[in-house]
Amino acid sequence: EKGPFPYYMLKEITEQPAVMRRLLSRYVDADAKPQFDAALLKALASADRLYIVAAGTSYHAGLVGQSLFEQLAGVPTQAALASEFGYHMPLLSAKPMFIFLTQSGETADIRQVLVNVKAAGYPTLTLTNVITSTLAREADYAVDLAAGPEIAVASTKAYTAQVAVEALLAAALGQFKQVPAAAKSDVAHALSLAAAGQQALIDQQAKLHALATALFAKTRNAFFIGRGTDYFVSLEAALKLKEISYVQAEGFAAGELKHGTIALIEQDTPVVAFITDPKTAARTRSNAEEVEARGAKVLRIAAASLAQPEDQLIVDDLPALLTPLLTIIPGQLLAYFTSLDRGYDVDRPRNLAKSVTVE
Ligand code: M6R
Repeated sequence: EKGPFPYYMLKEITEQPAVMRRLLSRYVDADAKPQFDAALLKALASADRLYIVAAGTSYHAGLVGQSLFEQLAGVPTQAALASEFGYHMPLLSAKPMFIFLTQSGETADIRQVLVNVKAAGYPTLTLTNVITSTLAREADYAVDLAAGPEIAVASTKAYTAQVAVEALLAAALGQFKQVPAAAKSDVAHALSLAAAGQQALIDQQAKLHALATALFAKTRNAFFIGRGTDYFVSLEAALKLKEISYVQAEGFAAGELKHGTIALIEQDTPVVAFITDPKTAARTRSNAEEVEARGAKVLRIAAASLAQPEDQLIVDDLPALLTPLLTIIPGQLLAYFTSLDRGYDVDRPRNLAKSVTVE
């Protein structure tokens, strides 16, 4: 039940720190080492390439997972849209393994890929929030995202659970394969910092509501920009805003602005810039200045160690690949308050269903 919350979406946003802690207690042992089924780790370790097949928000979590599996487990990994992959299959490597990333476990586009790759004899794993679902039952292995029931159509806590489980699984695989980066990584510690950092952002709801009103109250369009994982978060923050507030929102790789998108910037166009990676912070900041010089209203969301006076929202520091666990919280809350301000049914946006069981 919603309890004191006006909408499930807000309830589910506020549950995210508890989900992080639940995942720690479920998948991390007393020595702070991530633990998964040995047969699953063995299957993953024998793959020469991983494909993460997903749709919508889960695909955006898959993009983060792609970097996590490459860097922590040293295995080439490709996130793919299920609706494309099913019909335009890339040239597969000799020993691929398929990871199906899905909140509901019922998405038809993903199931169609699963049926085909199983028929071809490839190993399969489903990461899902519904462990009794079709995709969980039909894959060789299944791992529970343990986010608890997600009722709002807009996915929030499932996204952060997906990123966290991918990080834990990538670290466990890296440790199994004795990849040095995995031995050094302390994903468990990072997830407990993430829980605290998420709570600090959730506690700033009044500020985020005011920012949402100032930026998006009247706009018909909006842009989210970033580089690397900040780009992946931009895609997800834009989807949240489109889905529940019907604002035409797009996420862009900040460096791509000058290759076309900047032509769309007009007086008062809202632009949200995510700045959490020391390698690219200066470049994203200059992109933010470029759009501001053309009249854009820019909201800068930056990591604490990179903060500058013009930044309006600060998130705690986390290892670069895990910052989406924090930066998406303002993305979710900005979308929530925009939908609320516009008087829409936040939990049940028009034209959408919670699980998409047609191709
Ligand atoms: O249940 P799934 O994760 O497979 O669903 C995939 C998408 O349909 C889903 O993430 C959708 O994009 C959400 N409504 C986004 O908030």
